[in-house]
Amino acid sequence: MFKHSQLQSVKAWLALPAHAELPIYARIQRAVRQLILDGAVGPGKPLPASRALAKSLGVSRDTIETAYAQLHAEGFIDRRVGSGSFVAEMTEFSPGERLSRRSALLRSQAPNLSKRGAAIFRSGGVREQLSPRPFAPGIPETRSFPLPLWQRLERQVLKETGTRALLHGDPQGAEALRRAIADYVNLERGARTHADRVLVLTSSQQAVALCATMLLEPGDRIFIEDPAYYGARKAFDAAGLECAPLPVDDQGILVEQLLADQRGAKAVFLTPSHQFPTGATLALDRRLSLIEWAAKHQAWIIEDDYDSEFHYAGKPTACVQGLDPHDRTIYIGTFTKSLFPGLRVGYAVLPRQLVAPMTVARSLLDGHTASITQLTLARFMEGGHFGAHVRAMRGVYAERLEILTGLVRTQLSAFVEPRVPVGGLQMPCVLTIDLPERAAIDAAERVGVELLGLSALHASGHGEAGFLMGFAAYAPGEIEVAVKRLARAFRTLKSS
Ligand SMILES: Cc1ncc(COP(=O)(O)O)c(C=O)c1O
Repeated sequence: MFKHSQLQSVKAWLALPAHAELPIYARIQRAVRQLILDGAVGPGKPLPASRALAKSLGVSRDTIETAYAQLHAEGFIDRRVGSGSFVAEMTEFSPGERLSRRSALLRSQAPNLSKRGAAIFRSGGVREQLSPRPFAPGIPETRSFPLPLWQRLERQVLKETGTRALLHGDPQGAEALRRAIADYVNLERGARTHADRVLVLTSSQQAVALCATMLLEPGDRIFIEDPAYYGARKAFDAAGLECAPLPVDDQGILVEQLLADQRGAKAVFLTPSHQFPTGATLALDRRLSLIEWAAKHQAWIIEDDYDSEFHYAGKPTACVQGLDPHDRTIYIGTFTKSLFPGLRVGYAVLPRQLVAPMTVARSLLDGHTASITQLTLARFMEGGHFGAHVRAMRGVYAERLEILTGLVRTQLSAFVEPRVPVGGLQMPCVLTIDLPERAAIDAAERVGVELLGLSALHASGHGEAGFLMGFAAYAPGEIEVAVKRLARAFRTLKSS
């Protein structure tokens, strides 16, 4: 059982008015998480049995079970059949990120942070895999990137600009790159824009963070997809926004629920090309309704078009920005998927009135994106190399998706059902046997296979159990070996 002081801390947390709107299980989950982060219950220490804690807090045992299940899904606790729940030795704070006990401890000893700072720190941020292994999602193939060509273009840039490239650059971005991006999004994504509306950034994550702080006040509501991209959700939480999740079906976010919502919101964030993580494409009539809603309520549409280059079946749908005559859409793009994540270049295509404010805001964050990188990328695009690379990788990824689908259908059919996406770099799979998602993910990890669970991406933490399988960064042979290992691991789990 918790010590008296620990139980008092949990009760005090539950009673805080600021937490009153959360469901009771979520309050308990966060209160226990806080105890862990504060170091009040250390790694390996047991948590109270769910029945005992339910009694102490005057709630049902199911409520505690739900809270514990969520803590388990987040990696804060381990659950051992027959012996109970324990604070995890290794604590997973965000998908793909494993923090050592030492860094978890450092985090719990953070010095006098502001409330917002502490919340940001607690969120764990977004840490992607440094050396990806199958099936870590969202990562492109980098081993075949034309590095010699890139180096040649960079040398040309340095030769032509000389030491001028070593000075500060325009916070809005190098004009040559803004032009190349505008041409690309107009031609390939059906956008309607011009170089003077493009803001070159370090990443789409930066664009999302800028939107969260520049367009909304703390406490404002923003509609998000449910399930949602964790990076965006964390950025909105960090800005103190209230995320209002809307369900997603096979045609994207349920816009009719957004229209019916009485409380309204200042913005909606969505991934219309390939919804993250389901892969659904937002239907045209929903895009149009969303645009009308935004115009009527003077709300913003934040369109994250993160991997639209990779669409394998039919033509990709034109982006929302190009359909929006009212200029309420902020279009966000990135080269993380289309080129390589280490590039650190993303961009936003902005409504006219947001160009100056967003550019000023960005200048306070990091000044501008590295000039030599921008100019090299501009050349890469102007010379037609970007288009050629994307076309080549589209073929490679389409083949890898087909191989993965075939292998999942033959080797894993007793355990999962693949939801084959029309595009993107990852495939969701839903568990079809009664196996806890966490157990499946842990079993995969023990055999060197990385899976990102689907449940935790849902606002409630209880979506359909399953996982995402990234396929783009892995060669067919690597995919085959990993699927076979997974099949063996699942068989062992089932029979144990
Ligand atoms: C939906 C979504 N948006 C944005 C990103 C990240 O892009 P960036 O590296 O430009 O922040 C990712 C990457 O995983 C993603 O899945």
